[in-house]
Amino acid sequence: MIGIIGAMPVEIAGLLEQMEHKTARRMAGMDFYTGEISGVPCAVSCCWPGKVNAAACAQAMITVFGPALVINSGVAGGIGESVQQGDLVLAERLVEHDMDTTATGEPKGFVTGPELVYFPADARALAALREAAAPIYPGGVHVGTVATGDQFIGSNQKMEALRAEFGAIACEMEGAAVAHVCYLNGVPCAVLRTISDNGDDNAAFDFEAFAGEAAAKSTRLLAQLLPRLHAEFPG
Ligand code: ADE
Repeated sequence: MIGIIGAMPVEIAGLLEQMEHKTARRMAGMDFYTGEISGVPCAVSCCWPGKVNAAACAQAMITVFGPALVINSGVAGGIGESVQQGDLVLAERLVEHDMDTTATGEPKGFVTGPELVYFPADARALAALREAAAPIYPGGVHVGTVATGDQFIGSNQKMEALRAEFGAIACEMEGAAVAHVCYLNGVPCAVLRTISDNGDDNAAFDFEAFAGEAAAKSTRLLAQLLPRLHAEFPG
């Protein structure tokens, strides 16, 4: 089965509409829906924003359903002139940008235990997403570092800092937490995000206006690709 996590109801709505033989189970204050999407067995949940919510959701999903792949799908703020609203960002690696033990000599973003700054996304899932995305996002598919933190980025200064510190091309609030939990459990993970805003001074306004449309684009790509992902990640 494939696990899919969105942070807000709008980020999973398109998937739940298509889910057949749906059953629901509540854990850790979150609803987990299991059933088939495009004929593929899936577990889908809305974790709500932030790293702790995302981590709790990912761990419950992995422990209870044992997915062969966990996907975090939704929207993000684009970083840099070339990453435009409506484009797709696929994570190659993810960083918890507000993890900071620099006072003890570690690099910014370093997570003690795994001893990593950047958590990897699965290369095979990334390649499949990249290929399938090209016709849906003509000229607008970007692959790179996604920065995750417990804050909505809504200023040019903060957005530029994420680019300077981590080379990030998108900012959001859950992806690295999902990738971190997947890494700890040895489960492959993928993160896809359609750009709703640019993390700049207009971000809150743009997010309000475009998040629904952007989230629907991510779920359209995902629903279409699920049979191929299931073939590559059976079990
Ligand atoms: N998700 C969508 N836009 C975002 C932003 N600007 N900051 C954090 N998360 C986001």
